[in-house]
Amino acid sequence: MNTGSTNLGIASLGLKLPSRYLDVRDLAALRGVDPDKFTKGLGCHEIALCGEGESVVTLAAGAAKRALARWGGSPRDLGLLVVGTETAQDMSRPLSAFVADELGLRGAIRSYETKHACYGGTVALRQALEWKASGASRGKAALVIASDVALYAPKDPGEPTQGAAAVAFVVDDASVAAVDLESFAWAEPAFDFWRPVGESFPRVDGPLSLECYEKATTECFRQLADGKPLDEVLAAFSAVCFHVPFPKMVKKAVMKLGEANGWSEGVTSALFESKVMPAMDWNRHTGNSYTAALWTGVAKVLAGAEQGARFAAFSYGSGFGSELLTLTAGPKAKEGAWKADVAQDLASRTRIDAETYLAYRGA
Ligand code: HMG
Repeated sequence: MNTGSTNLGIASLGLKLPSRYLDVRDLAALRGVDPDKFTKGLGCHEIALCGEGESVVTLAAGAAKRALARWGGSPRDLGLLVVGTETAQDMSRPLSAFVADELGLRGAIRSYETKHACYGGTVALRQALEWKASGASRGKAALVIASDVALYAPKDPGEPTQGAAAVAFVVDDASVAAVDLESFAWAEPAFDFWRPVGESFPRVDGPLSLECYEKATTECFRQLADGKPLDEVLAAFSAVCFHVPFPKMVKKAVMKLGEANGWSEGVTSALFESKVMPAMDWNRHTGNSYTAALWTGVAKVLAGAEQGARFAAFSYGSGFGSELLTLTAGPKAKEGAWKADVAQDLASRTRIDAETYLAYRGA
């Protein structure tokens, strides 16, 4: 397979988690639901929530500041700022403008927002890579941010899957990870999850969303396999990362891959436990962070990876669009400096109780 390898990719990485969280068992007690439904049925643990003064913008800017500090370049070396989000602040003004205000970025830079549900951050990353690969960047780097605050209407079945986080990348050389230019996309128009103009919370066709996610997985990995046995192809990857709306969704998708490829139960479980589950460690603390969910997992497995280790990253966004990317760890992956972001934010955040959550949501 021609992976279209280049020396382009992620030069630096930063994450930002908000300052509060709710344990899903407290939510279960509040809503009168068996906690096992949330923890075992959906695989959820904690819901990251914004505190006073926090928003999708401060999360995005917080992640970006950390990525930029690790990079060492100057704002003048940036030619592109793209923010992938579905937590739009405005129907016209891009989130990138709000973030640029926070970062003090202005001048000879293209700045915009990308939207495609949870796939929006991946689209932003792809565009930055392709901009670099095309030569249009004139040697400049891109700042790419995936940032979201995922809230459903109070009492919605999606409520236990809520969350928030931001991941930022400087796209330039591949010192953290090279991203292959070849990727495997699949899209089909569907109303599985959408938020009409003027509405605060998404509408969801839950069962259809699960079906679309599984279909997208099967189609993207089929393209990656390119006629070869998929389990053999995946053997080359140290980890296989997925968009994580809730951890059980990922398990269901891997089981679907197993069925589609005729794997035994043992092969499917071994793949899930050894290569998929470890990528979801940080997602358990954030909940679904929409555009940032997949990249939180990728950041987790890249941290500490040996140079040359290969990773697969499956992005899904309702609507629906999906894309499977492949990456190779670079020399800075082993040190995994961005682990400190997660450690610091987890150590300093506050667990809120059900009453505080109720006051925050208003119902
Ligand atoms: P629900 O309908 O309330 O849950 O909400 P359920 O009744 O289907 O139960 C869920 C699981 O819990 C089931 O397990 C039950 O058996 C089990 P399964 O059969 O699926 O293996 N269960 C229990 N287990 C242990 N003890 C118990 C118990 N009770 C039940 N007592 C739903 C589920 C996913 C629909 C809801 O959470 C929802 O609407 N979520 C939002 C949509 C979503 O996340 N979809 C995922 C794919 S779409 C996607 O990823 C895109 C997205 O991120 C948005 C974007 O792209 O921007 C969402």
